[in-house]
Amino acid sequence: MRTKIVVGNWKMNNTIAESLELATGIAEAVGKGIHCCEVGIAPSFPALHEVGKVIEWSDISLAAQNCHYENDGAFTGEVSARMLAALGCSFVILGHSERRQLFGETSAIVNRKVKKALEEGLRVILCVGETLHEREIGVTESVITGQVVEGLDGVSDISNLVIAYEPVWAIGTGMTATSAQAEEVHASIRATVAGIYSPAVADHLRIQYGGSVKPSNAVELFSMPNIDGGLIGGASLNVGDFMAIVKAAC
Ligand code: PGA
Repeated sequence: MRTKIVVGNWKMNNTIAESLELATGIAEAVGKGIHCCEVGIAPSFPALHEVGKVIEWSDISLAAQNCHYENDGAFTGEVSARMLAALGCSFVILGHSERRQLFGETSAIVNRKVKKALEEGLRVILCVGETLHEREIGVTESVITGQVVEGLDGVSDISNLVIAYEPVWAIGTGMTATSAQAEEVHASIRATVAGIYSPAVADHLRIQYGGSVKPSNAVELFSMPNIDGGLIGGASLNVGDFMAIVKAAC
């Protein structure tokens, strides 16, 4: 039985003060002793440290939205996995479609980041997803399989990894994949992982869905057999909506 996981991806939103207010609200609502679902929040880099302090007492995990694939060095503007681990992050989101599309991250770069983050003891949320054009021309499965295979290249142990399937056309657009569309891709990701590792490893892997998840569609999405929670953007910026989605996972 896989424990569902719901993570709020705050993206480039909220000052430190605003982040603290939101994090405090979520920590009070989640509290301690929640066993039905794992909960995480991913504030911006500047807010990570302070947010980490206000959620420390609760069951919420701290997540970062990106990291570099080297530990130190001349990489102006970058943040390393080692730094994130040292400040108390549990998770890092890697390969988000906004990183791939707007910042030129290839699957090869994402793969280097995945390996470094795991090596530094972080848990990884590896994002994959097809564009609308790719869905329309019928290459969704091959695109997703390619991103999974390349993202996991040379990674021998995925027990600290979660995959997030996020169709690019559903992110921030209000268009959600139907539960059947999402389930089809999740099942295919699990089959790919079974082929690379083993059916038992694939059975343990959690695969989140992301892309316009809201309180109104979360229950149906999360009831699908291969959907193990969600990576939530817009709706994670509001305590009530985020908590309704967490409850849906429970
Ligand atoms: P959204 O974003 O929920 O606003 O669509 C999801 C994501 O990009 O992780």
